[in-house]
Amino acid sequence: MERTLEEVRVLIYGIGAIGSQIVRLILKKKGFKIVGAVDISPNIRGKDLGEVIGIDRKLGIIVSGDAEKTLSSVKADIAVHATSSFLKTVYPQITSIVEHGVNVISTCEELTYPYIVDSSLAASLDSLAKKHNVTVLGAGINPGFLMDALPIVLSGACQEIKSIRVERVIDAAKRRLPFQKKIGAGLSLQEFNKRIRDGRITGHVGLEQSVSMIADALKLDLEEVKVEPVRPVIAEKPVESREIKVEEGMVAGLMQTAYGLIDQEPFITLVFKAYIGAEGEYDSITIEGTPRIDQRITPCVQGDLATAAVIVNSIPKVIKAPPGLKTMKDLPIPSAVLSDVRKYL
Ligand SMILES: NC(=O)c1ccc[n+]([C@@H]2O[C@H](COP(=O)([O-])OP(=O)(O)OC[C@H]3O[C@@H](n4cnc5c(N)ncnc54)[C@H](OP(=O)(O)O)[C@@H]3O)[C@@H](O)[C@H]2O)c1
Repeated sequence: MERTLEEVRVLIYGIGAIGSQIVRLILKKKGFKIVGAVDISPNIRGKDLGEVIGIDRKLGIIVSGDAEKTLSSVKADIAVHATSSFLKTVYPQITSIVEHGVNVISTCEELTYPYIVDSSLAASLDSLAKKHNVTVLGAGINPGFLMDALPIVLSGACQEIKSIRVERVIDAAKRRLPFQKKIGAGLSLQEFNKRIRDGRITGHVGLEQSVSMIADALKLDLEEVKVEPVRPVIAEKPVESREIKVEEGMVAGLMQTAYGLIDQEPFITLVFKAYIGAEGEYDSITIEGTPRIDQRITPCVQGDLATAAVIVNSIPKVIKAPPGLKTMKDLPIPSAVLSDVRKYL
């Protein structure tokens, strides 16, 4: 279908820390029009979107707690969705958007490669999206870019590959408070272990998705995707963020490793570390191959800003993509939207 030069109409679904960052970025770009906003939080519902995202002007969009009503009353080209990390939680939210004929781009970690979470839910979502002629994508900085899309792109310069190792090391003191809490910073080891057991600390969601996305792109026949249990990182000296003080011997954050195994050897290794006081933050990708590739980004890419960027930059690619459930490896290579978004359609 030939597109006219109408603005890209966006519905914002989930306006927490990340949804707010995304709205702020959309407002800086030309060619977008925010047509509605949905969030169930009692702190947000009924307020003007401008107030919710902390800018000093009203946007004339009142945040609704009723997604169905909003979807029925506004016309949107795409919904930007940022509510939860888990496929089963977001599934009814995403299907209701799709049933209204609206494309979806979501920060849901498990949606970045949902086939390994629940293949039948993923298949249903794919056929529903095709039926309604829309595209659904899970994306973000990680999963969705640094530990999957980027190594996949780099692999394009290799003749042969023996192994791929990706590391992300984040100083959590530079991240938002909910992130610091999510990784258990400032807890005793006993409390950390308790929260792991009762599911209040889940670790990083998405390593399994990233391993699987790389393997799929490279058509690797993995025997197993193995995700090690989350491990605490214990402070060897007192460290602190603006909000949390971590005494020596307390938990400063966590680490987790995942492998894609072939012949019981790791072909893909992903290492994620996030803790307060991490010195020399970085993202690295090492491909042992021909040629060898050793890429290091220092400091590591700022996750919140970059998640908003990946989401907004992917909007025109999602709108243009064939209908169905897609992953980052299915879309054209990622690139920035620097001028009017309509030029990219
Ligand atoms: N892929 C990536 O790289 C990446 C990067 C950053 C974040 N994420 C993920 O993106 C999600 C959002 O992150 P965040 O930091 O913005 O979380 P957040 O601050 O908790 O915001 C989520 C918002 O969505 C609302 N919400 C929850 N369920 C809803 C529903 N059914 N309908 C409408 N609104 C609903 C929440 O309300 P309540 O507070 O009342 O529940 C909250 O206001 C998280 O799962 C996060 O892990 C992914």
